[in-house]
Amino acid sequence: MTRLTRRRFLGGVGALGVAGMARLAPADDGRGDAQAAARAAAEIERAATDFPNPLRLPGASGLYGVLRATEVREIRVRRTELAVLPGIASPFWAYAVESGGKRFLNPTLVVRRGDEVRLRMVNELDQPTIIHWHGLANDDRNDGTGIYIAAPGTAYDYAFTVRDRASMYWYHPHPLHITAPQVYRGLAGLFFVADDDEEALRRALGLELGVTEIPLVLQDRSFDHEGRLEYGVPRDAMFHGFIGEEILVNLTARPAFSAARRIYRFRLLNGSNARNYRLAFLQGGRRLGFYLVGTDGGLLDAPTRVDQAFLTPAQRLDVLLDLREARADRAVVLATLGFDPMHNEGTMEPGTAKAAAASSGGHEGHAGGAIDGEEKPILRIDVKPTSGYAKKIPARLSRLPAPPPAGGKPRRIVLGHDGRGNWTINRWQFEMNATPLTVRRGARETWLIENSRASMPHPMHIHGFQFRVLERRGTPAQVRGLGADRNGLLPQDRGLLDTVLAWPGESVRIALDFTHPFPGEQTYMFHCHNLEHEDLGMMIRYGVKA
Ligand code: C2O
Ligand code: CU
Ligand code: CU
Repeated sequence: MTRLTRRRFLGGVGALGVAGMARLAPADDGRGDAQAAARAAAEIERAATDFPNPLRLPGASGLYGVLRATEVREIRVRRTELAVLPGIASPFWAYAVESGGKRFLNPTLVVRRGDEVRLRMVNELDQPTIIHWHGLANDDRNDGTGIYIAAPGTAYDYAFTVRDRASMYWYHPHPLHITAPQVYRGLAGLFFVADDDEEALRRALGLELGVTEIPLVLQDRSFDHEGRLEYGVPRDAMFHGFIGEEILVNLTARPAFSAARRIYRFRLLNGSNARNYRLAFLQGGRRLGFYLVGTDGGLLDAPTRVDQAFLTPAQRLDVLLDLREARADRAVVLATLGFDPMHNEGTMEPGTAKAAAASSGGHEGHAGGAIDGEEKPILRIDVKPTSGYAKKIPARLSRLPAPPPAGGKPRRIVLGHDGRGNWTINRWQFEMNATPLTVRRGARETWLIENSRASMPHPMHIHGFQFRVLERRGTPAQVRGLGADRNGLLPQDRGLLDTVLAWPGESVRIALDFTHPFPGEQTYMFHCHNLEHEDLGMMIRYGVKA
């Protein structure tokens, strides 16, 4: 065990001790000890019994209130307060909107494909900001990439047509070097695009947003002694990224949700700065199966049944859970199962582990040693005994465009670090005035994202385009065991993605089609969506030449 691994391990034991859990990672990679996994699951379920707080849901106004994006004129980015923990006012930064006499914070914006969005962002903060529409294919002027930025006290106008497939996208700040703290303090909202396929699914299952179709924004946060949100990441802890002590869902700590025995649709977003989740629904010590129906870029062709899925920062998962399969007399618990984010450390090239450990300064996340990969309950779902729901999941959902043909030599994207605490992309640290990568509009390219062994999980995200995963190599067994096909793809790799996780030692081959309707040269970002990594400069500008 390397120093870094050992420290993480010890830190992890401390954190789990606080949560009252007995053991680390159930380490169930398909061949693992099924009994141990069942015991671990039962422990997690037990820990969720004292989740007292009703899950916050998008309603007609207020936090996450649902609003047609076409009706929004102005979004004010401001400091406000929110009782994140019940009864404790915490400083909170939010997107504030007034519309139709109602007030919204971080509104859930909804559009139909083809709608025109025209709105003004007013920056009332004392620092620069910009809104990035994560996952939407916009021109660079409307992408909010960070090249154009609104200084304090100024405004920025957006005008774009939504051309994207139906999905749940999201919006968040993107100012250079200060994205992580801005998102952490509250700035993030959901952006739903609907189309015919989407509406057909909602009709078939009788789904209603905020009632039976539930967005779940997963964010881990830490609190100070008064119970207010606390960030404060020392420079050396940025090397790992912020890992908070509590996992919030829709800004609800220890949340509970009361459900009927029917099909629910959960729209999951990993809105965390750096934490990865290994999601499963648990009941009675076992994993309930669920259906994966969509990814970042919308619906799959057909539902796929799975019993767990990883979710890396910025990614979304669209899943159906049929609670008729659950027992009505006990809760179902959405949990993150244990995993080892640094599984390849034992086989690092000599020298690199020490360099990584030295530059990281030994901080594991923040305050009290919360770590990525620890098992934790996320949401308790209380199941009411109900009957009379007889709907079935449709066999066809949508039509995914065929992946672009893999042609030519792949472009290599090498993830690494410089041994001085900086993560790099092709040895680059971000520079605003350099565009080290250029593609041609309409080009079809294959990229090979190679993460070094002495590394961390890096959720790699591209602006402007959705892509397809073609192949994974060097994937850790704990991931491969979740039903990888012969190209190493997991079920969720078969959809359109704008963010893909590259594990340490893994190579991920993706296919991109740089076709878009925007004139002239467009400039976007490609970066790690571990937000501390992004802020440290694990990001490059890339250009799309006309
Ligand atoms: Cu979600 Cu470049 O961002
Ligand atoms: Cu983005
Ligand atoms: Cu990273």
